[in-house]
Amino acid sequence: MTDDLHDRVHAAAAFLRARIGVRVPNVGLILGSGLGSYAERLDHAIAIDYAEIPHFPASKVHGHAGKLWFGSKGGAHCVAMQGRVHLYEGHSAATVAFPARVLIALGAKVVIVTNAAGGLVPEWPPGTLMLIRDHIDMLRDHALRGPNDDRLGPRFPDMTRAYAPRLRELVREVAMAAEIPLEEGVYVAMPGPTYETPAEVRMLQQLGAHATGMSTVPEVVVTNHMGARAIGLSCITNKAAGITGEPLSHEEVTETAARVRTTFERLLDQVLTALVARGELS
Ligand code: HPA
Repeated sequence: MTDDLHDRVHAAAAFLRARIGVRVPNVGLILGSGLGSYAERLDHAIAIDYAEIPHFPASKVHGHAGKLWFGSKGGAHCVAMQGRVHLYEGHSAATVAFPARVLIALGAKVVIVTNAAGGLVPEWPPGTLMLIRDHIDMLRDHALRGPNDDRLGPRFPDMTRAYAPRLRELVREVAMAAEIPLEEGVYVAMPGPTYETPAEVRMLQQLGAHATGMSTVPEVVVTNHMGARAIGLSCITNKAAGITGEPLSHEEVTETAARVRTTFERLLDQVLTALVARGELS
């Protein structure tokens, strides 16, 4: 065991490299609640339990399986996280973001981060897909808090283009070509595990956010820290608290995610194909 973050990242990557053979990935996928089945659709896929991977945090929440998948899709060599851990489980933001570091250490040039989120725009029906343009971090911990290791990235990373503008353009183009409706907006990360209060939802709307969730920001932070590029996609599974007056439930979240799964998977297929075709992964 080592306390050194750089060593832990590379120990996990070395363990995985010994297991994956020729399947060296160039794109990482972090699959949110109800969206994890995409990993099982990868060609020539193999799965490794998080529990086997040195230093990998294991998820315990229902609906978040803990497997790392390797396989290809549309010519992209993918490493896909089926399930992730969250701050509300008691992990630090650095621990939550650790797997994303391993994906990048393995070779991912682009990390596609997906999540289920509550919609802050009253007009957006559940099932809306949103491309993340930017984020607001309301988590009570930061993935880079603590000493910085310059081998991993800079002390003060720029976040002006945290969600790579050229890749956002690419996603918009492929969604339009595939006739998949796609909104674009700002994701706000809240600590959870409670859903927001209606007063918090009004606050988040005033702050300029369009979707609220409990993940994504730590992974996108380390993706930028390590010099890789991020794409963020939210599946709006419900209107945020207070908008309809009806109580929110985890069942509603997973049911909506399951309902839009095929559309979401079609979008991911198109994005991967376009990333390869445009040389974004080399
Ligand atoms: N709030 C926070 N996280 C969520 C929500 C929500 O309304 N829906 C799905 N994840």
